Amino acid sequence: MTAINTSISAGDVSEWTSRADAIRPEGRAFIHGRYLPAASGKTFDCINPATGKTIAQVASCATSDVDAAVKSARKAFDTGTWSQCDPSERRKSLIRLADLIEGAREELALLETLDTGKLLRDSLTLDIPGSADVFRFFGEACDKLLDEAVPAGSEALATITREPVGIVGAVVPWNFPLKMAAWKCAPALAAGNSVILKPAEQSPLTAIRIAALAVEAGIPEGVFNVLPGFGPEVGAPIGLHCDIDCVGFTGSTEIGKRFMTYAGRSNMKRIWLECGGKSAFVVFPDCKDLKAAAQAAAAGIFFNQGEVCSATSRLFVHEDITKELTPLLLEAAMAYQPGNPLDQASGMGAMISEEQTQRVLGYIEKGRGEADILIGGHRILQETGGSFIAPTIFNGVSAQAVIATDEIFGPVLSVIPFKTEAEVVAAANSSIYGLGASVWTNDLDRAIRLSRAMHVGSVSINTVDHVDLRTPFGGVKQSGNGRDLSLHAFDKYCDLKTTWIALQGGPV
Ligand code: NAI
Ligand code: MG
Repeated sequence: MTAINTSISAGDVSEWTSRADAIRPEGRAFIHGRYLPAASGKTFDCINPATGKTIAQVASCATSDVDAAVKSARKAFDTGTWSQCDPSERRKSLIRLADLIEGAREELALLETLDTGKLLRDSLTLDIPGSADVFRFFGEACDKLLDEAVPAGSEALATITREPVGIVGAVVPWNFPLKMAAWKCAPALAAGNSVILKPAEQSPLTAIRIAALAVEAGIPEGVFNVLPGFGPEVGAPIGLHCDIDCVGFTGSTEIGKRFMTYAGRSNMKRIWLECGGKSAFVVFPDCKDLKAAAQAAAAGIFFNQGEVCSATSRLFVHEDITKELTPLLLEAAMAYQPGNPLDQASGMGAMISEEQTQRVLGYIEKGRGEADILIGGHRILQETGGSFIAPTIFNGVSAQAVIATDEIFGPVLSVIPFKTEAEVVAAANSSIYGLGASVWTNDLDRAIRLSRAMHVGSVSINTVDHVDLRTPFGGVKQSGNGRDLSLHAFDKYCDLKTTWIALQGGPV
């Protein structure tokens, strides 16, 4: 890994381009505390989707690498240096890891942007510092969460103690690579587990890089392993491994379902799923600030190229305010013109891959038969060799249209008119997904009524997709189960042990 001069602060695009040209990303797997090629020696091309160019060769792991990582993870777990140490030791290491991630912010942000096409501005200010915050949060929490003693009379003592489950597989997607890795790995490590992280094949670089930082932070060998590679070759053997105790997954609903079958076919490992979404953004005529609503609606779908599981891809607008809201929405969308992700002036970055670009363009074609396009609807910047799609808004969409029901995972918004509160609640809840909802109203009763009626994991009132470390994130229905973030996430990676001790002699 080429050292990056971190004393240069967020510079201009030519500065970042020369840094990008100089970077030599590590592409090997990380097993038992060291970087290793895949046992097969195979690699795959890691592509920058903003240029179409290969930026690294990455180890293409398979079953034998999973077996090696599990062996090392189990050995580490059984020796107890991490799993049974005083949790204040884990706290120190995880906080140190957070500090190291922050110290390497510019390098990690550049890697994340080159790997995914997302805006460098966002990598620098959100993805990387946000990931450090997650390690710090769970590091801080792990020696302060107390266990329980049960009132059991003078003849017994009963305790309920949390124990790490053992080996946790973290299988994560490409839209927020380091952040999603942190959301799974931080609580799992904090609880004392050994972890095997499988980054998405589209975005392995930051996960691989932080393995070295984890060692520097004092996390013992075998406790944190990173296995890059493809889903069927690495994800499936993780799901099917009889010595992995738990999997935390973020990704598509289709593959989430597959993990449930992997568990059923192997050792009944617990599976925590954060999958697809089709979140609703609802604007009522009593919303006092339609401009703010329009800006939030644009952010809700165009942030991160719309590659966000909780993206508010369905915009329900009351028919009385459609005329007023539409121009405000179009104006807000103008801020999301795609451009070079390294340029701080770009409004949106590149799509993750050519495959995803084709998938999204396919939906846009379907949409043309279902509704009117207000803006966008095409790919742009082809001369860059990259995969860019213009922010796209369909108007007058029916709630049952394909573009209003399928998760598109791109910068494509469906504007759906509605007349009554009951109608919009029914339409919003008709999705197979239930991740988030955003409701814009200045009627307090309506706000509370709607937040109760929405069958989702998180409701944002007069704000959009509000995510905070302290509050749980996740969904209902086919958006998955269990919650990332907050202290509740810690319990996903723990077992509860009940201990009864009979006492003799009675009171003093
Ligand atoms: P995916 O669900 O295939 O990938 C997510 C992770 O699962 C990756 O690490 C991948 O390697 C792994 N995986 C893939 N196939 C697997 C298998 N057979 N067994 C075990 N692990 C496997 O997501 P993909 O194909 O990259 O994206 C397709 C769609 O999924 C997107 O268009 C979007 O709709 C949805 N998606 C949702 C995400 C979310 O945040 N909820 C994130 C990424 C994708
Ligand atoms: Mg896939």
